[in-house]
Amino acid sequence: MSNVLVIATSLRTGSNSDVLAERLTAGAKDAGHNAELISLKGKEIRFCIGCLACQKTQRCVQKDDAPEIADKVLHADTLVFVTPIYYYEMSGQMKTLLDRLNPLYSADYRFRRVYLLSTAAEDEAFVPEKALSGLMGWVDCFEKAELTDSLFCGGLTDAREALTAAAHLDAAYAFGKALL
Ligand SMILES: Cc1cc2nc3c(=O)[nH]c(=O)nc-3n(C[C@H](O)[C@H](O)[C@H](O)COP(=O)(O)O)c2cc1C
Repeated sequence: MSNVLVIATSLRTGSNSDVLAERLTAGAKDAGHNAELISLKGKEIRFCIGCLACQKTQRCVQKDDAPEIADKVLHADTLVFVTPIYYYEMSGQMKTLLDRLNPLYSADYRFRRVYLLSTAAEDEAFVPEKALSGLMGWVDCFEKAELTDSLFCGGLTDAREALTAAAHLDAAYAFGKALL
């Protein structure tokens, strides 16, 4: 059993990736994991200002919602980032969060496995490649962790479309059930 933290980064009402993150989390729970799903909706996460004070203190100088998320990430075994594809990349809010997790770089983090679930309007296999590459850059800096697997759910444009996308719902559940 792992402590799984699923971080949904879409800010859209009726978000497709949120719907799939919920299915994924249900699969993880059914597999026996202790799984928590959090969303960046309504959270204040400012840009990293690059002061690097966190490398001495393991704390960020900024007072917003990022430190609380960083604390959850610190204690998770498995991380699942969930993002809509924006201009063939991860969402800006996901990238901003990754930067704000910099206090963990010099901390005794537990996570060893990192996964990505992405959604997009287009349905070609290349669409999530740059988002994966970006996340890989972050994971590469956390040497005890690896980017274990990813799931891309394409062909989703309008809000709530995922609710009736049976194949994607099933795939997200199975992906969650197979998490390590
Ligand atoms: C700013 C922006 C950029 C987008 N860029 C892409 C893109 O490059 N490729 C694509 O297939 N879809 C793109 N989309 C569509 C979203 O990825 C798609 O609607 C997805 O289902 C949104 O997920 P969400 O509902 O979880 O936010 C973009 C949407 C927005 C708002």
